[in-house]
Amino acid sequence: MSLPHAFRPIREDGNAVIILDQAELPHRVVEARLETLAQAAHAIREMQVRGAPLIGATAAWGMALAMAADASDHGLEHAAALLGATRPTAVNLHWAIKRLLDVLRPLVPAARAAAARQEARAVCTEDAAANRAIGEHGLPFIAGLALRRPVNVMTHCNAGALATVAWGTALAPVYAARAAGIAVHVWVSETRPRNQGLLTAWEMRQAGIPHTLVADNAAAHLISSGQVDLVIVGADRIAANGDVANKVGTCLKALACREWKVPFFVAAPGSTLDWDCPTGAAIPIEERSGEEVRQISGLDDRDRGATVHVVPDATHVANPAFDVTPARFVTAIITERGSIAPDCLTALYPERQG
Ligand code: MRU
Repeated sequence: MSLPHAFRPIREDGNAVIILDQAELPHRVVEARLETLAQAAHAIREMQVRGAPLIGATAAWGMALAMAADASDHGLEHAAALLGATRPTAVNLHWAIKRLLDVLRPLVPAARAAAARQEARAVCTEDAAANRAIGEHGLPFIAGLALRRPVNVMTHCNAGALATVAWGTALAPVYAARAAGIAVHVWVSETRPRNQGLLTAWEMRQAGIPHTLVADNAAAHLISSGQVDLVIVGADRIAANGDVANKVGTCLKALACREWKVPFFVAAPGSTLDWDCPTGAAIPIEERSGEEVRQISGLDDRDRGATVHVVPDATHVANPAFDVTPARFVTAIITERGSIAPDCLTALYPERQG
């Protein structure tokens, strides 16, 4: 299976890191160059990079950029604290920072910059490999439905290559199915308010995979009327009991799947599993600015970027960015080690047992 598209959400470039600026997508393909810790933290906070695995990879590179400038103990702890405060829900952020800290803390400062780069590279290489394996482990669930052609897969948010170093999580099985010659069609939900579904639609277009964009509210209708064969979503954090935090709106899809007996899968690498979180109730849910609800951005009829206000500023709004889907709604979690019932995760990760 070869990479389905040419774009790379993150890559090393000399002493810097190049990211695809996702704040500009799907309207403009623009790269941004990160040269400093502050720029890496800004990219994560302002969602130039997004999706749990990509946030983790960017944090790893942020640590490396920080070490190139100040590899003292203070510089190390400052970088970890700054990056760790950028976004609260995606646990891959903390996973990557801890991984770098564990490597760098025992080293003398002079050795830290090179070691940090090497570890950041390893984080990226391993993420791409994990996602590729997720694709292979998820493929049978799509192949098993291939008698109904094309297989209609619904997803939410963007858990594709753009949200990771390569392949994606939820979309990796879709790419694997495509590579295996299985006809797939992807229902893409818009994912208000930040519209990450538009990134999924962009990505599907790059890969030449048939897809249809729908408003989030259309999901239950499509699921209940037999137009969805399975749902696959990604995750930002999975608690030890299998409860899944993912982009807000995920739980409603899981509820509909449960009612109409449509399989509901979550695809995520081991770096998204939070063994210190016993249940979903302990997962911090990011509350984002109300401006994201009050406004919509896009292109005007002259193809110029434009933002319009859809409600008066006086309207009270709330903007929880994630929700938690109870483990009992999840058919299986697909990881790089295989797929498993959500309440049996330690069978795949026995090193985490007891
Ligand atoms: O807030 P974002 O855009 O960083 O949201 C994260 C996501 O892309 C998803 O929730 C995704 O499903 C999990 S990450 C592959």
